[in-house]
Amino acid sequence: MRDVAIIGASQTKFGELWDVSFRQLITEAGLGAIDDSNVEGADLDAMYVGNMTAGLFIQQEHIAALIADHTGLNPIPCARIEAACASGSLALRQGIMAVASGYHDIVISAGVEKMTDVVDATPAIATASDQEWEAQQGATFPSLYAMIAKRHMYEHGTTREQLAKFSVINHKNAAKNPKAQFPFEITVDQVLNSSIVADPLTLLDCSPVTDGAAAIILCPAEDAKKYTDTPIYVKASTQASDTITLHDRKDITTIGSTKVAAKKAYEMANLTTKDIDTVEVHDCFSINGILAIEDLGFVEKGQGGIAVEEGITENGGEIPVNPSGGLKARGHPLGATGIAQAAEIVWQLRGDAGKRQVEGAEIGMTHNIGGTGGTAAVHILSR
Ligand code: COA
Repeated sequence: MRDVAIIGASQTKFGELWDVSFRQLITEAGLGAIDDSNVEGADLDAMYVGNMTAGLFIQQEHIAALIADHTGLNPIPCARIEAACASGSLALRQGIMAVASGYHDIVISAGVEKMTDVVDATPAIATASDQEWEAQQGATFPSLYAMIAKRHMYEHGTTREQLAKFSVINHKNAAKNPKAQFPFEITVDQVLNSSIVADPLTLLDCSPVTDGAAAIILCPAEDAKKYTDTPIYVKASTQASDTITLHDRKDITTIGSTKVAAKKAYEMANLTTKDIDTVEVHDCFSINGILAIEDLGFVEKGQGGIAVEEGITENGGEIPVNPSGGLKARGHPLGATGIAQAAEIVWQLRGDAGKRQVEGAEIGMTHNIGGTGGTAAVHILSR
């Protein structure tokens, strides 16, 4: 197996992008990453694109062919990878495995979602849950995560204010990220007083509905310096599965797939939580950010809320979480999220993150899940 490096990264602006189409989004992200990596389009051997549900959002399937064609990359092989909100990280992982195995040399892993062209995104997003046991019984993602939040509050004493603080920190970081959907600060009171979506979660506990795309270019580590002075090395790429339904889990306050993927990642990289300088976690709802820091091992189970309250996860704290603004405030274009997380870690490790730079960051992590954690993927990257 060969070591793999990231030599280019790019992200479009995230938001409600009425004047930009699906194909324009992925083209902008792809060209951005090509430009950033100093490779030519003709150097690319393969493309993997994370996308959850273009069929439901824009009535377009067969998007891999559409993207290869529209980006001018024909005839390279292009494959769509789907694992709900973890689609982007799995596209990254497919690219890493293709380069590591020697099957391809230069690969582009990207992600794209155009969510705002439908009147109501909720039924499309709900297809990531179990249709028979969850969606058709009326459960939506906000309601599933609301149940998790209630249980976490009951079992571990997590408070409503601690959940709100997770969103507040995300928005504080996003205010320094020009590509974020919501680049402005909010207060705990605003979170508590925004409209209820699914009790106890309010509007400002939720990630939004977002259009956006991101892309990463990979090559063998031994070749990386030909293209850039600042390659970022892939130390671990792992993935694990858990039950798709919540009711089949022994403990709904733990995401088993995250725990397994994280454990494997630390082993693969020969690192511990203490070595990680910053992490982009999957906070589709504030409670999920708290579960993530627990299940990734940064704090003990049940201590996530207190850690957030004490400011441990702020930029400048013990473990800066979501310097980009996270899913909550950078935005969450489902299939693009995992790639955007990796792009943020690349910029952080290069020292290119501007006003939101985590000082001295050398090793970073991404954590991306599908649904309520039926799929989880973890990546560890290093300077
Ligand atoms: N955070 C902050 N502001 C938000 C927001 C969010 N999550 N979602 C919407 N807004 C803002 C909009 O920008 C808009 O502001 P404006 O009036 O100043 O233009 C206003 O709130 C109303 O927006 P609208 O789109 O009508 O909101 P909505 O009620 O239809 O949707 C949610 C709100 C929370 C239901 C929706 O964002 C949602 O479903 N989020 C979860 C997405 C999800 O489940 N992702 C997958 C996770 S597994």
